Amino acid sequence: MDKNVMNKLSYGIFVCTAKEGDKDNGCIINTVTQLTTTPNVVSIAVNKANYTHDMIVRTREFNVSVINEDGEFEMIKQFGFQSGKDVDKFSPESGHWMEENKSECKRAANGIMYITKGVNSYISCKVKESMDLGTHTLFICEVTDGEILNDVPSATYAYYHQHIKTQVEQVGTTADGKAVWKCKICGYVYEGDPIPDDFICPWCKHPSDDFERVFQL
Ligand SMILES: Cc1cc2nc3c(=O)[nH]c(=O)nc-3n(C[C@H](O)[C@H](O)[C@H](O)COP(=O)(O)O)c2cc1C
Repeated sequence: MDKNVMNKLSYGIFVCTAKEGDKDNGCIINTVTQLTTTPNVVSIAVNKANYTHDMIVRTREFNVSVINEDGEFEMIKQFGFQSGKDVDKFSPESGHWMEENKSECKRAANGIMYITKGVNSYISCKVKESMDLGTHTLFICEVTDGEILNDVPSATYAYYHQHIKTQVEQVGTTADGKAVWKCKICGYVYEGDPIPDDFICPWCKHPSDDFERVFQL
């Protein structure tokens, strides 16, 4: 099997937000799929290592903000490269994007945050069923509410790779000659050679297979 074949499947890219007590949080996911229209049912797959995962398990509710082609890499970093276990992602101190755009985060009717910038819509979901997939839980959910915010096209996962992720600085070999490996999913940089087979990206949790060697340009 060509290990790149899975990259040909098309997905969107989303901010999945949850709320538990006073704690607001959210993470980036690319696994929202519509399953039926009557009623509107979607599935999402969330890594068990994500704090958002545990919040959804406990509260059985979340919102999904649909990232559009104006989405900024800084927003992906804000929600996708740090964990709610360590930071309050909705606090302006937690990152450059939130410092500038706190007012672009609003509360939906279900009390859960959604994003209004770099996003064209959001849906509110309630978990009906869940399935243990090992590393991830698949949540099957009814869509209870939603709003369109603008007509900027939704970013596909391929668009994210070609246009949004490329806002990351290019890096080459380190000054002391160490090889540089970059995660093709999120841009995380690993220095050293070889990258260990069992290395897991600390930002997006993808395996070492998703890293590519970056050479000095
Ligand atoms: C482009 C991109 C796509 C991602 N897709 C998923 C996904 O589909 N499912 C998932 O569980 N995590 C995904 N992640 C990883 C989480 O967003 C990331 O681990 C986040 O820091 C978890 O935050 P939390 O611990 O506050 O929930 C993705 C990250 C990026 C950058």
